[in-house]
Amino acid sequence: MNNRNKVVLIGDGFVGSSYAFALVNSTLASELVIIDIRKDKEVADVNDLLDATVLTSSATIVRSGSYEDCKDADLVVLAYGNSQKNLVNRLDDIKIATEMVLDTVPKVVENGYDGVILLATNPVDVIARVVEEVSGFPFERIVGTGTSLDSARFAQYLALETGFNVADINAYVIGEHGNSSVAVWSNANINGIGIDQFIDNIDDSYKDKVGEMIRDKAFRIIKGKGATHFGIANCLLAFTRAILLDEKRVLMASAKLSGEYKNEGLYTGVPTVIGKNGAEKILEMPIDKREQDMFDKSCRDLKENFLLADLKKNR
Ligand SMILES: NC(=O)c1ccc[n+]([C@@H]2O[C@H](COP(=O)([O-])OP(=O)(O)OC[C@H]3O[C@@H](n4cnc5c(N)ncnc54)[C@H](O)[C@@H]3O)[C@@H](O)[C@H]2O)c1
Repeated sequence: MNNRNKVVLIGDGFVGSSYAFALVNSTLASELVIIDIRKDKEVADVNDLLDATVLTSSATIVRSGSYEDCKDADLVVLAYGNSQKNLVNRLDDIKIATEMVLDTVPKVVENGYDGVILLATNPVDVIARVVEEVSGFPFERIVGTGTSLDSARFAQYLALETGFNVADINAYVIGEHGNSSVAVWSNANINGIGIDQFIDNIDDSYKDKVGEMIRDKAFRIIKGKGATHFGIANCLLAFTRAILLDEKRVLMASAKLSGEYKNEGLYTGVPTVIGKNGAEKILEMPIDKREQDMFDKSCRDLKENFLLADLKKNR
């Protein structure tokens, strides 16, 4: 295990602190530096996390830091955002997250960071593109968590529905992490055997109903406790491991399309080879006509939403 990895986490709310806990337990990083504008929360979490390292024999040194720490970092993770307790409208969401990017990413770059920026900040597909523009980094070095969580929810649903172990289920969601996501039924399988062998009558209305349930899951969780954070924390951890260990894992990242799936010029959730260089290659899985139509619409929505960031005016 390579144990000389420095990770800088920016944004230490529900998502950031859950990720920090997962990272410390994973022992993947030798050093975790946390930056948040809420200094009291940042310092309290550092102290709490240091206690957590003891009995797991984690050698991770956790500390508060500054943007200078980005200089020799192996990975920078953005987990800031709006508190999910106060769900705001899409425009405000984009504007607020864009302001956070404008406040933080130039400082990451000015301090000499030249690695991958991994982000969960919503709306993640739009914000990945904002980060690309603000950082000036090559697009491969911007990796959003994309539809990794949506895909986990799809697989989890199918596992409960069929009774099989979720590890044997291959089922993915592509497109926007959000309203226009597309569950790829045509390709869903259990260790290579089509999902229609295990669930009867998978018609369009059933697909739509399950798609809606996957999308609504976040809202149901937020209603119960104010945020979703454990699931996304482990998604971030999977991306972190793939990048730091150069695993070349195929994860459902928010990556920039250059003609794949017949679309280009936007970030969205697609199967992507993740390694030390970030989003190294987008893979095109076969999708049917209905899924392609839904995906095209999702891409159109994302392009329109990106305009709401109004980057020219905001800079
Ligand atoms: N992509 C996904 O699948 C997914 C899933 C869940 C949550 N999220 C997103 O993750 C983000 C964080 O959610 P949360 O529940 O942790 O929110 P939160 O409100 O609990 O935490 C946000 C943190 O960001 C910090 N912050 C704000 N501006 C900052 C700045 N300029 N510099 C440094 N820190 C700053 C805040 O002080 C706060 O601690 C949101 O955008 C949320 O929508 C994404």
